[in-house]
Amino acid sequence: MNFTPLKYRFIAANEQAAQRYTLVLLHGTGGDENDLISLAEQLTGGQANVLGVRGNVLENGYTTRFFRRMGTGIFDHADLHFRTEELVATLQDLSAKLGFDPHKLIALGYSNGANIGGAILQKYPTLLSGAVLWRPMLPLPEEKPLVSNQAPVLLTSGSSDPYYQPENMNDYEELLKTAGFQVQHELIPSSHNLTQKDLQITQDWLKTHFTI
Ligand code: MLT
Repeated sequence: MNFTPLKYRFIAANEQAAQRYTLVLLHGTGGDENDLISLAEQLTGGQANVLGVRGNVLENGYTTRFFRRMGTGIFDHADLHFRTEELVATLQDLSAKLGFDPHKLIALGYSNGANIGGAILQKYPTLLSGAVLWRPMLPLPEEKPLVSNQAPVLLTSGSSDPYYQPENMNDYEELLKTAGFQVQHELIPSSHNLTQKDLQITQDWLKTHFTI
């Protein structure tokens, strides 16, 4: 397929970068590869590699996204399939180029980035060692069943987020659990914005599941 490699920023762990986990940072709509870097460094204390990538889609000619949408919360599934494959191909190429371990990837995605992170779980259910998806939606409702590597997955929803649809999230949780992922879903008293509570829960989740 005709993939365009995603733009990226990579910061290696303080030491033994080739053996460390790599946090793959997936920004929200309008963001870029730099957005989540300081949060990721705060969460890992420089003990993991961080790789920020920038979505290849421009909405209205200027707003960066990882895949096209038809309207608010209505995804172009064909494009999401294509962009997920493009992102996975970029990760494989970058692991060879930059020397990080392709078997030690943890996705950290917010909003639109969480949704393409979730699409990786659905389409490549053994690729990621873990995923943190802040303010997610079920990306590909028709993509099931799947058999996973039982990786831990953290989902955080905002209780007053207009994007939060309890039924959609129940289906999402069910689909991931049926595939064998270890799902933790937290409902946070907030809207679509990321909060200190998301970061605290993420920090605890990382400590529980990974030696970083
Ligand atoms: C999406 O389009 O991925 C979600 O609706 C969230 C957003 O980025 O606006």
